[in-house]
Amino acid sequence: MTVPARSADLAAQPLAHALALHAQCYTDPAMVAVDRRWIFDRGWQLVAHVCQLRAPGDHAIADLGGLPVIAVRGADGVVRVMHNVCRHRAGPLAQCDGLGAKSLRCRYHGWTYTLDGQLRTATEMAGAADFDVGDIRLPQLAVRVWQGMVFAAVDAAMAPPFEAFVAGIDARIGEDRALDTYGHHHRVGYDIACNWKVYVDNYLEGYHVPHVHPELNRLLDYRSYVTETAEWYSFQFSPLESGEGLYGSGDALYYWLWPNTMLNILPGRLQTNRIIPKGVDRCRVEFDFYYAPDDSDAGRARRDADLAFSDVVQDEDIGICEDVQRGLASGSYTAGRLNPLRENAVHHFHELLRRVYRDAAFPPVS
Ligand code: FES
Ligand SMILES: [Fe+2]
Repeated sequence: MTVPARSADLAAQPLAHALALHAQCYTDPAMVAVDRRWIFDRGWQLVAHVCQLRAPGDHAIADLGGLPVIAVRGADGVVRVMHNVCRHRAGPLAQCDGLGAKSLRCRYHGWTYTLDGQLRTATEMAGAADFDVGDIRLPQLAVRVWQGMVFAAVDAAMAPPFEAFVAGIDARIGEDRALDTYGHHHRVGYDIACNWKVYVDNYLEGYHVPHVHPELNRLLDYRSYVTETAEWYSFQFSPLESGEGLYGSGDALYYWLWPNTMLNILPGRLQTNRIIPKGVDRCRVEFDFYYAPDDSDAGRARRDADLAFSDVVQDEDIGICEDVQRGLASGSYTAGRLNPLRENAVHHFHELLRRVYRDAAFPPVS
């Protein structure tokens, strides 16, 4: 498995002189396996929110860059994330989220596992020699629950230490936004004809907002839009003036966490995006909306307005991302200059990617 780009295309670049990531990294089918092994398996990925896993047996499924997983709260109260792949012949244990399961039963032939992933019964297997259900468990991932969100890593030894991954975010969010008390309201998924990195790139800059999102542009103060980068994440910040019918006024905080998680934090609302690769020129974006508890009619109306408005912005982003994927694949383009003022977070993402791809192409000799 190799990265197809030349080493010169993967060299680190100072912001003021930076080019975007080489087009081949978005279009070469060989990159799918590279991204899975070197990025997704070695990163912290968002699986669920604790409000989906309040009681034993509550579970939520997710796709971690091609690995199906299931998050389950066990009888002992511990949240585990396990492969959602039966050890018999790879059937799924769960196909949707659910509440209060007593066990995990494979849909294919009915093998049944305990909530902590131990095989308990295997139907009609008495004739199988040297077969002991006690030997069979679902593989588990490393798990961290932070700000009410459940993150998991396939290869925790190669992932950043979790504390470094989120360092500084708690202080910025502040204690008055208790994201772990929010409730799950709604999920929307979008299938998009672009590489997952195109979608992330687009998220990481407000440069396109005046051109692609005229309505959103009216709510945000583009001139005071600030983008900062940290080691493993970047965030965009803008004062927000939207009137009481939508978000009210306050801070809008938009975090991107390596490699594919976004946290959009507005007054009383958390919305997460997960960008799931589905091939070199396909991805699925899942939006989950969570809100501070509020049963009033006004609260309900605000949530409906939020969903409708988010859909408009997302349609605009999908259109431009699919156009960009066509441009990247056209043969007309390799890499253009980045805007140091407006695209510093894109540069930060591309530097992280180039570092990974250098390691993948030319692994350090040990
Ligand atoms: S694949 Fe799970 S029981 Fe057969
Ligand atoms: Fe956008």
